[in-house]
This record gives sequence, structure tokens and C-alpha cells, in this order.
Amino acid sequence: MQEAKLRELMDQMTLQEKIGQLVQLSGDVFNTGDLSTGPQEKLGITQEVVDNCGSVLNVIGADTVHKVQDQYLQRSRLKIPLLFMSDIIYGYKTVFPIPMGLGATWNPDLIREDYKIIAEEAVTDGGMVTFSPAVDIVRDARWGRCLEMPGEDPYLSSCFAKAMVEGFQNNWEKGKSIASCVKHYAGYGAVEAGREYNTVDMSERRFRQEYLPPYKAAVDAGCEMVMTSFNTVDMMPATGNKWLMDDVLRKEWGFDGVIITDYAAIQELIGHGVAKDKYEASKLAIQATVDIDMKTNCYSNHLQPLIENGEISEDLINESCWRILKLKNKLGLFEDPYFGCDAKLCEQTCCKPEFIEQANKTCNEALVLLKNDNDVLPLKKTGQKIGLIGPYADNPGIFGMWALHGDRKYTITVKKALEDVLGTVEYSAGCNVLDDTSCLGGFGNIPSLAGVIKTGDELAEDEAKALEIAKNSDVVIMAMGEHILQSGEGGARTDITLPEPQKQLIRKVKATGTEVVVVLFNGRPLALTDILEDADAILEAWYPGTAGGKSICNVLFGDYNPSGRLSVSFPHNVGQCPLYYSQYSTGRPSSPDSVHNTRFVTHYLDVPNEALFPFGYGLSYHKARYSNLVLDTDKMSKDSTIHVSVDVTNESDVAGIETVQLYIRDLVGSVVRPILELKGFKKVQLQPHETVNVSFEITEEMLRFYTRSMKYESEPGDFKVFVGCNSMNLISTSFTLK
Ligand code: NOJ
Repeated sequence: MQEAKLRELMDQMTLQEKIGQLVQLSGDVFNTGDLSTGPQEKLGITQEVVDNCGSVLNVIGADTVHKVQDQYLQRSRLKIPLLFMSDIIYGYKTVFPIPMGLGATWNPDLIREDYKIIAEEAVTDGGMVTFSPAVDIVRDARWGRCLEMPGEDPYLSSCFAKAMVEGFQNNWEKGKSIASCVKHYAGYGAVEAGREYNTVDMSERRFRQEYLPPYKAAVDAGCEMVMTSFNTVDMMPATGNKWLMDDVLRKEWGFDGVIITDYAAIQELIGHGVAKDKYEASKLAIQATVDIDMKTNCYSNHLQPLIENGEISEDLINESCWRILKLKNKLGLFEDPYFGCDAKLCEQTCCKPEFIEQANKTCNEALVLLKNDNDVLPLKKTGQKIGLIGPYADNPGIFGMWALHGDRKYTITVKKALEDVLGTVEYSAGCNVLDDTSCLGGFGNIPSLAGVIKTGDELAEDEAKALEIAKNSDVVIMAMGEHILQSGEGGARTDITLPEPQKQLIRKVKATGTEVVVVLFNGRPLALTDILEDADAILEAWYPGTAGGKSICNVLFGDYNPSGRLSVSFPHNVGQCPLYYSQYSTGRPSSPDSVHNTRFVTHYLDVPNEALFPFGYGLSYHKARYSNLVLDTDKMSKDSTIHVSVDVTNESDVAGIETVQLYIRDLVGSVVRPILELKGFKKVQLQPHETVNVSFEITEEMLRFYTRSMKYESEPGDFKVFVGCNSMNLISTSFTLK
């Protein structure tokens, strides 16, 4: 519809109808299933609110969307279609690895293609807006939601944020694009002590420098919506935070799309203690220019009284309503209120072989080989007795918590993939993922995520069989991990090791004398110190999604030379959290040239400061050597650049992919600077014994930060440049910025 017509339409709307556009309700009010997370409550709204409501949460399914839309439009005076929004995070029916795994690909171009597939599948089934990507910076492995994000680094996460939005929105190709809503703006990943929904508090400098960039990258990539986070920012919850929403997001960044709250977040302003009641809470949110109230009656019941009492201007409602109508119009809903969804088309589209192939390709790149002692991997397809043990070995639900719609029929489990390679496979689950799941709670209407827990004889038989298999095998693959509900929303843990029954089983299996290859399924960086001795090899598989088993076998047998590199630091133990490679300099660094007594430097008595498996780390079957790091000049001015060149040599007989990483350290600043910051990376293919020259350009922009005067600028001085295969294994040189 032309914009003038849309204006005419809005001119006909009553205040109540306009407020209706600002209200999002979930499926239950439309008599459909509701997959949302959050406090379920009796909403206390009238039928009129339902009839005027502008959007629906987590209702998907082509037939259902047609039905709900038809019924709604029949009752609607001005025939303004409902907008259907869902959590389609890293896969619809075809599930890709969890975003923490996608981060490990270091391949945003690949992920852009994945997100196009996700959009195409979702749109055929009624998706119009997806609450994705989530790009909170994650540095605390205790936080359950680590799995939803591409990692700990602002630069790498920004590259993914951009690619994900571009993939979803796909240049608005008809039937193949979905509106993207970046979340959780802002800073949610920094919840204190990793505890879900907890306080976030940090300096504005750090917030802008490290936490805001990925959201900004999503906004710059054109994402249509932004979701507020549950947490505080400078002691004001994001949802009522005018500085964050209006000053930064809208005015500084120029975002004129739709801001939606997270689930019930306006009402939660009362819980936070910044509003006395829903009336005050609604006032804070609308003044912060928050457009849509997800799933409470705050806006529906309180905006009109706020206007009548002269506490807010009606302009705020008009502006929000206009932004929402513009989005509906952009999606073409006035012409096609179903956004092209069609059950038959969905059936034909979802889980097509080429989509599963793409999931396989991505998953190959997402798997990270953490340990491979004595080259126990790759395994041999013949002449080696290989057993399979573990609760994740034949589990089709290897999707992680936020792939609600994944079609398990298509999952390639490890067992299935192994049988494809070896014919028959000796297998036992060996133990439960977790013996007691009572702390996990439920998740929406999907209790099956909690899994089946075996007890008594059945459990004992599984273990006995596992040990028998181990005795008769040269090597066993142990598919172990966290319970799916141990990570994800509400999944904070203070013990971030593998569940006890699994650790015990690994120990017993190792004691039989076999070689042990542990394959991990988990949604956070785990502390793996406990199993290091017993595992000859460890492959981090995250929750790998539909093609997971196939990719795992590709890597285990060397059909794919592992190339994944961690985008998050794996600690020695939970006491190191939060942990990230780009630590700030301290006055008492723990370095050999320190002038202090070794006790009185920054360190722990019991573990190193660094990660057990650092950011950027991952093994491959080839061996790469980095040499000849050369700059074309060691002096840079504000308008010149420096060319960095490095030789990467494959010193093995195996072809492979290296992720060449460029880091910079600003040695002296007007404020304290990080000891290392990722500034670039390139994935290069290396043939056996080949040397490839890799180059980067350093620009002045890369050296900017929020200086003492809070200006985003660079400062003259000395810098170190580092290149290497991970954040702890680097060669370096230096230059000066004039
Ligand atoms: C709460 C979660 O924080 C958010 O990520 C999600 O999009 C909403 N619920 C809607 O389900």
C-alpha cells in the first residue's frame, strides 16, 4: 500500500485501535498452543483488546496462521492484519548448530546462507518476524543462555549479527525473507554471577565498547525490530530506559523500526522497583519509545488513562502505531495477510535434502576438536574395533533449548551416521544424562525436552553393556553432555562440569584400557578439567542440530578435517568466570618481568589466569606454522593504513583450513586498554606442505575506543600486532600511530 494510503488508514483509527497495535498477545487468547517462556498469567484484558491487538507471539503453522488471521480480520473494523512473531533462532524444521557453535565456524558468509534457509522454511509456515539474532556478548559460562549467542568478542559477534540479519531479511526476496528482531538490547550477557535475569552494571565506556557493537551491527544491517532486555543498564531496566532506547538506539543510531519488549518486561519494571504499578511502568516504557508490549495488559489498560490524565502525549502512541503499521505494510500484509504461508509449500520446503546438506556443511565447520592425544583421531573405517556409548549417541533431540520447531524425524544421530560408515555398531547409552531432573522445571508445552530417566536394573544393564563394549573395543566414542534444559533460558549453573553420572562412566570406560573419544553436546563453555585425563580426544559438538551425527562422523573419520575455533573461552573451573581473552591490563600483571613478588600479582593460587581452551582455539589434523609477520611500515598516520603480511605453512600431509587471527594491543591509552583485541580474521585453505601468504590491512578506525573524554577516537602511540591460530598462540610485531 502506498504510504499516503497507510496514513489515511491510520487517520481513521481510534485511540483504542492505535493502542491495540502496541499490544502483543500469545496464542492462548486465540485458542492455539503457546510455546513462549515467561510467567503465564491470566491477562485481565477485554475481548475488545483481543480484537484490536496488533501482533501474536509464537503462533506458527500455516493452517493455524490462516485460521487465526481469518477470524481476526472478520472481527476487525479496519482490517489491519495481525503480525505473527516467533522464536526461530537457529533453525526452523532444519536445525543448525546452536549459535555458540555457529560462532565457532568463524564463517559469517556461510551463516548468512543458513539464515536464508531458516527464513524460507519459517515463512512457508507462517513466520513473519523472528526474535533473532540474539547477540549478547557472553563471557560467563554460568549463564544458561550462552548457547544462543555467537560468542564473547564484540568484533566477531558483530560480523555474525550482520550476516544473520542479512540472511533472514534476504534483500526482501518474496517468500524467502523474514523480518529480523535483534535481541536482547542491551547487555543481557553480563548478568552478575551468570544468574538469569540478574542485575547488569558496568561503565558506559565498557558498555559502548564491548556490549553495544553487535546490536549496532544488526541495526546497521537493517534489522526491522529490536527487543529490549530484561536487565538493568545503569540501574534502570532496559525496557524503561529512555537513554538506551531513545537517545542511543533511535537518535544516535538512527533506528526507526519497531522496539518490542521481552516477555512481560514492562510489568517487570514493578518487580525491579522502578515503577509502583502497571500505570507507572507503562509510562516509563512508552516514554522510552518502546512500541510493543509483549504479553501483558500494561499498554492495553494503561496508555489511554495516561493520555487522559495528561501524563503522556498522544504523539507517542501515534509514532509507535505508525512504526508498526509501516512494518506490516513493508511485509505486504495488507495485500497478503498470510505472508505467503501455505501448508503444502511448507511440507515441500522444509528439511529438503539440500537444506540438510547445508546444515551438515555448517556443522562440519562448527565442531571444535579440543584434544587429540597421540593422534587417536581420525579413526579408521576398517581394522579398528569402535564402540559407541553415551546418552547422546542415539538421541534425535540434539537441538538445544531454542529450536522449538526442529523436526526430529530428520535428525541424523551419531549412531545412525556411524552405522552408515561401519555397518553395524555396538552401542549402549551407558547412563542417564542426569539422574535427577527435578531442578530443571518445564519449558512451555514441551515437556519431552526433559527426556526419559532410567533407573534400577535398566540403568545397571546399560552401564554393564557399555563396559562390555569398552572392553571389546580399541576405541569408544562417548556421546556425552549437559541435559538440554541445563542450558538455555533459566539454565544458570554454578557447576559447569559434565553431570556426575557421565563423569563416572567416562572414568570406568577409560579404566577398561580402551581409548576414549568424548563427543560433547552442551550449551555453554564447560569446565572440562575433570575429564581431561580420561579422554584421549575431545570433540566439542555443541547441540549440533539436524545433521549433527553426520558431521561428527565426518570429523571423527577424517572425511572433514576439523576447522572450528572457539568463539568463547573454556575455563579450567567455574571460579574463573567471567572469563574472556580480552582482559584489561592491571597494575600487577602476572608476567615473568613483573617487579612484584610472585604472590602479589594478579593471579589465582590454584589455576592459571588463562582459559583451559582459549578463545580462537581448535585443533585440526594438519599442523600449521606461522612465520614472517611483516608490516609494510611501522609508522601509521590517521589517514594511512598498514599492510600486515604473514606466512602460514602447512607442515603436514593433510589439507586443511586455518583461521588466521589478527589481534592488536594499544600499549598506552588515556584509559586502561585490553591486552588483546581481535581486529580481523581470514579462513584459508592449505594444501599439504603449502605456504600461503595471508594479509590484513590495519586502519585507523580499528584503533578507536572511548577515550578519557568519552570520544570514540584513536590516540597516537605504540601498538603491538599479533597474528596466530588462537588468542594464546601468536607471533607479534609493532608499529606507532603518529
Ligand atoms: C523470553 C526470551 O528472553 C526471549 O529471548 C524470547 O524471544 C521471548 N521470551 C519470547 O518467547
